[in-house]
Parts: sequence; structure tokens; C-alpha cells
Amino acid sequence: MKPHSLVVGGTRGLGREVAHAFKNAGHAVSVIGRREPPQSDRQKDLHHWLVDVVDFPSLKKTLDQIIEQNGKLANLVLLQRFKAEGDKWKGEIETSLTATKEIIEALAGQFTASRENSIVVVSSIADEFISDTQPVGYHVAKAGLGHLVRYYAVTLGSKGIRVNCVSPCTMIKEENKDFYAKSEGLQNLFNKIIPLGRMGTAEDSAKVISFLCSDQASFVTGQTITVDGGVSLLSQEALARKITGL
Ligand SMILES: NC(=O)c1ccc[n+]([C@@H]2O[C@H](COP(=O)([O-])OP(=O)(O)OC[C@H]3O[C@@H](n4cnc5c(N)ncnc54)[C@H](OP(=O)(O)O)[C@@H]3O)[C@@H](O)[C@H]2O)c1
Repeated sequence: MKPHSLVVGGTRGLGREVAHAFKNAGHAVSVIGRREPPQSDRQKDLHHWLVDVVDFPSLKKTLDQIIEQNGKLANLVLLQRFKAEGDKWKGEIETSLTATKEIIEALAGQFTASRENSIVVVSSIADEFISDTQPVGYHVAKAGLGHLVRYYAVTLGSKGIRVNCVSPCTMIKEENKDFYAKSEGLQNLFNKIIPLGRMGTAEDSAKVISFLCSDQASFVTGQTITVDGGVSLLSQEALARKITGL
């Protein structure tokens, strides 16, 4: 039987990359999003479920249906973030933090009996640093996810579930690649300040998520892996010098 992996927020961006990586590795993949996925994603072994994760009664019903249809889980990856009109604080907290907690608690008893199960939560370097392009709720929710991961790493360890976090910086993904391709100035800036000399991509983060869901990470739990090409290692002074060339 194929391993079953559920990707919450897997219809676009990094989540879509992760869903495809699982599918290419031979998993049965369930994907949650609110909107229809691109037509090209209507494939065998990619099962889409449309539900808003903050509609908790519908979410619970959908999670039950997913397990009924595709069986117990080997992997759960959570990438959803608030993208809607309205109160940004409430939206970020409910979509990122509360929904992640609700989903993990609803599914904790629905993993395989093997000790090879994994949960990965996607955060951001905004869990520690301040990005003035994102609202306060985004920062607070992302910071909270790190501790939520450590809590569940301890409490779910005995069920054979490892729980880890991936923290990317700004990345190129399918949906913004044309924008960055046309923004030569912005690309040059990123290339200059990131120690690895280039912008990160959704594929870079998806590879780390695949690693955390693999046997290669069999004794790793409660950890956050930053995927930022080293940019968050630089002091403010080093950054200023790189940008100005002084
Ligand atoms: N993009 C970056 O540069 C970057 C940098 C650092 C960290 N991150 C983090 O990486 C993760 C993925 O980012 P991304 O840019 O790939 O995101 P994205 O393109 O905005 O995709 C978000 C996914 O979550 C789903 N989603 C959002 N709200 C939902 C809701 N209420 N209910 C159900 N599904 C919902 C979306 O599906 P629908 O649209 O169908 O609802 C979509 O599949 C996020 O957690 C983000 O904070 C991203």
C-alpha cells in the first residue's frame, strides 16, 4: 500500500511543490485548499479537498473523509497562511496557529502504526526577524508555530510521529517567477546579500520537507530548519555594507 501524505495548503506555491514531490515518490497524496487546483493537477494519486481550514466543523468532516478514502497517514505537512479580506490579526492567528493545532489534534490518532510518521509545519524567518511587508499577526503566528512544533514533538513522540518546522525566507515559486524574472534590480539585490548568491526557490524548501519526512531524519524531532541561503546569519552592519558597498 502506498504511503498516504496530506498537504494542507497544497494547491499552490510551496505546498504544490511538496504535493508533487510526494506524488513523484509514489505516495497517495491528499491536498487541502479553498480553491480548485490548476487543471494540470487533476491526476491520479493527487486527491483535492476544498475546505476553509477556519471552518472547523467542515474541516473535521473533511479530515474524516480523507482518512476514510486514503487510509492512515504517514506524513502531514501544513503550509496554509491567511490570504483573505478582513481582520488580519484574527485571520493569521486562526488560519496559521489555531487551524494547525486543530488539524494535528484531529489527526494525531490517524497515523500508521509504524514509527515512520512525520509532521512538518512551515513557518518563515519572520518567526524571529521583522519583515515590514507582513502584518504583526503573521510574525506572532509564525513564532507560535515554532513552539507548537516543540510541544507536539514531545507529546506525539510516543505515537511514532516526528514533528518539525521549516522556516524559509522569500522564495521564487511558480506564481511569482515572472515577477522576479522581470525585476532585475530586486534579483541583483538578493543575489548580493544572500551568502549562497541566489534567491531560494520553492523546490529548495520542498527538498528539506521531503528530507524531514524521510527515514534520513528518523531521529530528528522538534527542530526548525531555516532555509534562507544564510541571509539571516548576517549582522545588520554586514548587510548594510553589502548593500551600499562601503
Ligand atoms: N512565499 C514566500 O516567499 C514565503 C516565505 C517564507 C515563508 N513562507 C511560508 O510558506 C508557506 C507557503 O507559502 P506560499 O507562498 O507557497 O503560499 P501560497 O502560494 O499563498 O499558498 C497557500 C496555500 O494555502 C491554502 N490556504 C490558504 N488559506 C487557506 C484556508 N483558510 N483554508 C484552506 N487552505 C488555505 C491556499 O489554497 P487556496 O488559495 O485554494 O485557499 C494555498 O494552497 C506559508 O506558510 C508561508 O507563510 C512563504
